[in-house]
Amino acid sequence: MVTETLAGLRTRLVVEGGRRLAGSLTVPGAKNAALPIMAATILCEGEVVLHRVPRITDVDVMAYILESLGARVREQPGGTLVINSTSVTSHTAPYALVSKLNASFDITGALLGRFGIAEVPRPGGCVLGPRAIDLHLDGFGRLGASVDLEHGSVIVTGRRLRGTTIPLAKPSVGATKNLMLAAVRAEATTRIENAAREPEVVDLADFLVAMGARIQGQGSPSIVIEGVRRLHGGEYTIIPDRLVAGTYLLAGAITGGDVTVRGLDPTMLASLQEVLRATGAEVAAEGVSVRVQAPRRWTATDVTTAPYPGFPTDLQPLIVAYLSLAQGTSTVEETIFDARFVYVSELARMGADITVAGRTATIRGVPALKDAVVEAPDIRAGGALVLAALAAQGTSEIGGLEHIDRGYEFLEERLAELGAAIVRISAAEPVTLRPHVGETQDLAAIVSAFGARPAAGSPGTQPGG
Ligand code: UD1
Repeated sequence: MVTETLAGLRTRLVVEGGRRLAGSLTVPGAKNAALPIMAATILCEGEVVLHRVPRITDVDVMAYILESLGARVREQPGGTLVINSTSVTSHTAPYALVSKLNASFDITGALLGRFGIAEVPRPGGCVLGPRAIDLHLDGFGRLGASVDLEHGSVIVTGRRLRGTTIPLAKPSVGATKNLMLAAVRAEATTRIENAAREPEVVDLADFLVAMGARIQGQGSPSIVIEGVRRLHGGEYTIIPDRLVAGTYLLAGAITGGDVTVRGLDPTMLASLQEVLRATGAEVAAEGVSVRVQAPRRWTATDVTTAPYPGFPTDLQPLIVAYLSLAQGTSTVEETIFDARFVYVSELARMGADITVAGRTATIRGVPALKDAVVEAPDIRAGGALVLAALAAQGTSEIGGLEHIDRGYEFLEERLAELGAAIVRISAAEPVTLRPHVGETQDLAAIVSAFGARPAAGSPGTQPGG
């Protein structure tokens, strides 16, 4: 299932900027719900059929992790995965796969709940800073497990977990999911206080309930889990990805366009809608769709990231890209991840005027961005660079697609459908030998020069692309 792009470091996106995006699209499934739900199948006896699973490389890696533990994973057309974890025999997650996926520590709670023991490599640092797991480990301890670190792996042992109250010092998304997974088959009742309220946490809880768990309060700061003996198989549809939806709305907005995302509950994007309105964009939320119409030039505003329902840290790089073209000076404060401004130097290479002091970025709006060759350092920063390139004058080239493909399904195909001039090129030669695309205005020439895969292909034909 792993796609060419996992290894394809020379693959790049070429974007001819300056085209107004318009149209509508249906939002794919949420990565941050799909990954823990896939991990949760470890707790289920029988076949689990998951619909609206996004075709992204993180899902491929999680599928490989499950297979390496002994599960059977089958892909069906249209974003359906059939997972049978009844045959899982191993409680030891392989380092080679886990190290590729920050979210993979989420399987610890599921393995612990199933086997009474889990051995998972300790997550390393990532571009957003060190991935802390103290709240996860403290919670496992409160449930009666013991925690050891051996040869770089966390070994959590607890043959008889017993429910209790777990107060989280911060509403950590990962800790809430992991502890819910550990508690679902524990004896007695667990209460997670100061729990994360993100829709993806709610989706994991709803999935577990659909498989026989007893959980209440998901979406509130207090989640109550009454342990059950077993979970069964069944069918479930993953919620749409609000972060991907936000990306397309901002892609429309930054090009002065008119984009509608369909298929998701607009309240999931309430904070983004509020920010966009503050910049002068027209936002209409109706039923299960959100439409954003951008003004010709938008105004600056201030944004602070916060746990849900606050402004999501994952949309922070994208809103910074948008505000870099606003009239006036904006500030964006990042309160979740210390190191989440690493991409700002790449935006600056496109002409953005941004200074970062501590956890606040000051963005002095410029009238235009210019083309550049840039590198995506992580998924959402990659999305931000694509947005900047869509709005920039000239033709930009974006590398680091191994990050972008972790979280965006058929990104260039979907943007092309909205009117973007964007292609994915797979350079057969080292990229340094290519002509300077910044001087090339003709996208067709670039496509033929590199033998690029055209962007107009059917999404269904490019798994994981
Ligand atoms: C998840 C999302 C990520 C999103 C983030 C915040 C997935 C796969 N990833 O990441 O896209 O940006 O939520 O919405 O769902 N922390 C601790 N101790 C812990 C755990 C976390 O101090 O034990 C800190 C982290 O360092 C970070 C903050 O809490 O500063 C938030 O982390 P958390 O909510 O756990 O994020 P993730 O689950 O890693």
